[in-house]
Amino acid sequence: MGVPGSSPGGPTKQKEKNMIADIVVGLQHGDEAKGKVTHHLCSEGNYTHVLRFNGGGNAGHTIYHNGRKFVTHYIPAGVFYGIKSIIGNGCVLNSQHFFEEIEELRSAGIDTSLIKIAKNCHIITSDHLAEDGRDKKIGTTKRGNGPAYRNKYNRTGLQAKDALELQPFIIDLYEEFFNNENDVKILCEGAQGFELDIDWGDYPYVTSSHCTSASALLNSIPASSVRNIWGVGKVYDTYVGTKHFEPDDHIFKKIREVGEEYGATTGRNRQCNWMDINRLIKSININGITHLVLNKVDVLEKIGVHALYDEEKTLNFDDGEDMRAYILGRLEQPNLLRELQEVYFSGNKNNLNMPS
Ligand code: IMP
Ligand code: MG
Repeated sequence: MGVPGSSPGGPTKQKEKNMIADIVVGLQHGDEAKGKVTHHLCSEGNYTHVLRFNGGGNAGHTIYHNGRKFVTHYIPAGVFYGIKSIIGNGCVLNSQHFFEEIEELRSAGIDTSLIKIAKNCHIITSDHLAEDGRDKKIGTTKRGNGPAYRNKYNRTGLQAKDALELQPFIIDLYEEFFNNENDVKILCEGAQGFELDIDWGDYPYVTSSHCTSASALLNSIPASSVRNIWGVGKVYDTYVGTKHFEPDDHIFKKIREVGEEYGATTGRNRQCNWMDINRLIKSININGITHLVLNKVDVLEKIGVHALYDEEKTLNFDDGEDMRAYILGRLEQPNLLRELQEVYFSGNKNNLNMPS
C-alpha cells in the first residue's frame, strides 16, 4: 500500500474486516427467473445481508419456498432464510404496498423482523402512483417508479428517513456494512434486466433505474468487495410493454402458454421472441458476469423447437443439446468474455441444475 508517510503494510493497523459482495442481475428484459437464483444462493451462501439495489414495486420476483409460491415486489429473497433483507438507496418504495407485502409474508409464517430500508431510499407517493397510472406511452407497470425517480433527480423527492411510518425499518447502509463488528457477506439482488436499463436499453422503452451490476455499487458496496456476478437469462426472450416485440408466428404464443409468460406484477401477456446471442454477449460483457444461468430450457424442450438469433439471422437447431453446444461455442469466442467462469442451463423449479 503506497500511502505517502505511512508505514509499510498500510496506513492503519486496525483489525482486518472482510466484506464480500455477490451480485445477481437480469441479462434481458426482466423476468429471467432471478428470484429462483437469488433464493437458491440465499439457501447456500451464508450471506449476512441480502440487498435489493434498484427498482421498486415494478419488480415481481416469483419464489417457491418450501413448496409454496410467493411473489415479492420489494422485499429481498433473504427474508425466506432469516437473513437481514434490505431495500437499498437505489430503490424507490411505496410504503402502503411495502406494508401489504410484509403482512402477506407474515401471515404465511415468514419472519419479517429482519427487513430494513436504507434511510436514503426514495418514496413513491400517491401522486406518483396516479401519474404513472395514466401512462400510455411506455406500458409501465403503473407502480409510480418513473415519477419517483424523476423527483429524486429533480431534488424534490422524499427520502425514507423522513417518512414517519417507516422509522422502525430505517438503517444507514454505511453504518451497517462498515461499522459492523462482524464480517459482512452481501448478496445484491437486482431487479428488471439489462435491456430495460435506462441507459443501455431501447430508450424510451426502459425502466427508470440502472439494472446493471454497476448499479449495486451505488448502495455502499465498494467495487473491491465484489466477488461473483451472476447473470440470469432465459433461453428465449420476453418483454412487457407497448413496443412491438413478438414476431407474428404461432410458436411464440405456444412459448407463452407453456412457459407461463404472464407478468408477475400486472398479469399482462409477456411478448415472446427468440434469444439474441449478440445482445446476450453484450450484456454479459458490460455486467462483467462470472456465472451465467440460462433458465427455462424445459420450455423449449416441451415445445420441441430450438432457435435463436445470431447476427440478425434465425438459427434453428435439431434439439436442445445442439442449441446449448452452439451457445457455449459462441460464449467462448469473444475475447472480452474473460471473466465468465461457469454456465448453467436450468429448467423448471424441480430441475434447477444449480451449483450446490
Ligand atoms: P416501469 O419500470 O414500471 O416504469 O416500466 C417501464 C418498462 O419496464 C415497461 O415496459 C415495463 O413493462 C417494464 N418492466 C418494469 N419492471 C419490470 C419487471 O420486473 N419485469 C418485466 N418488465 C418490467
Ligand atoms: Mg419479474
